[in-house]
Amino acid sequence: MEVLSIKHLSKKFGKKLKYAVNNADLTVERGELLALVGESGSGKTTLLRLVAGFEEADKGIISINGITVVKDNFSMKPEKRKIGMVFQDYALFPHLTVAENIEFGLNKDCCDDKKARVKEILEMVGLSGFENKYPHILSGGQQQRVALARALAPKPGVILLDEPFSNLDAVLKDQVREEVRNIIKKAGATALFVTHDMRDALSSADRIAILKDGKIQQVGTPRELYDKPVNLYVANFFGKINAMNAIANKGVYQLKSGEIKGVNSSENGQLLIAIRPENVEILTHKEENSLEAKVLLAQYFGDHQQVHADIGTESHIVIHAHEKILFQKGDIIYLRFNPEKIHVLDTCWYPGLAK
Ligand SMILES: Nc1ncnc2c1ncn2[C@@H]1O[C@H](COP(=O)(O)OP(=O)(O)OP(=O)(O)O)[C@@H](O)[C@H]1O
Ligand SMILES: [Mg+2]
Repeated sequence: MEVLSIKHLSKKFGKKLKYAVNNADLTVERGELLALVGESGSGKTTLLRLVAGFEEADKGIISINGITVVKDNFSMKPEKRKIGMVFQDYALFPHLTVAENIEFGLNKDCCDDKKARVKEILEMVGLSGFENKYPHILSGGQQQRVALARALAPKPGVILLDEPFSNLDAVLKDQVREEVRNIIKKAGATALFVTHDMRDALSSADRIAILKDGKIQQVGTPRELYDKPVNLYVANFFGKINAMNAIANKGVYQLKSGEIKGVNSSENGQLLIAIRPENVEILTHKEENSLEAKVLLAQYFGDHQQVHADIGTESHIVIHAHEKILFQKGDIIYLRFNPEKIHVLDTCWYPGLAK
């Protein structure tokens, strides 16, 4: 069942400016952790703030647990929306203890015994015994958990997190990401979190929604977005990808410099195809269904070698090779594209490449 439903949501900050959020449709299911990603300025924070009620929508409907909070000229006050917020800087009150910070947002609607609820939620986030400590003596990860406890304590319909991991260093981030996910799952909460880091989204979210210029490009599981991106913007957001023009005809992709056979595609005609670097194999001899290529650049990264090669297409091909052989500029190699891993992209954002 959907807990958060967003329909045709739009927001512009000035008449002459472009839309910050443009006709967005999104649902978050009960117990789901949904990541909202996109480049800087794509509208992530604005969308979150519209849901929280900190910004007024120009158009659209938002409902939380079946209750309409935004529609036409109606906009329910933020404090009535039953939303928990976790901000990037945690926004803990420095002069209040951990327990007081959490108790601050509690009222009779959520729990008769506030002290018991604070105890229960601190146990859930693994901070029992920290009741009387002040925020400044806690580590970044612990402050993050207090902020999460404060957001979860009133049992909100949905919790919203804006860049919850961006203040943490890389090592702590891996650990906190996992903890936050576990706590949200344990609490049975429904969460929408904003991040510009694809690693946060791929590793923590149940589903991801990706924005560009305020428009939702694709919504799906991390695997769907990584393996089956709808366009180059989505594909590039989740790492390197090789995009090529091809003419498809009965299971064969004809490239400028050769062909790839055994493709399981029903589409025919001019296409923009894409394949991730790890799905291209390097051969040292010509074999069936391989294309000759010249190494332009080979970089050794320990766990893999990144090879840039020219096969005569508009742009060079990047391969992540795990072979023991170290390739060098000028080497002639043969590339085999895994036909099952080739994906057809929509050309909407990069029409120049396809035509
Ligand atoms: N209060 C505001 N007044 C005017 N323009 C705004 C305001 N808030 C956001 N915008 C504009 O709306 C667009 C979307 O901004 P938003 O902050 O939602 O992006 P974001 O995806 O959260 O970016 P970031 O990753 O940098 O945080 C941007 O063009 C931004 O300049
Ligand atoms: Mg933002």
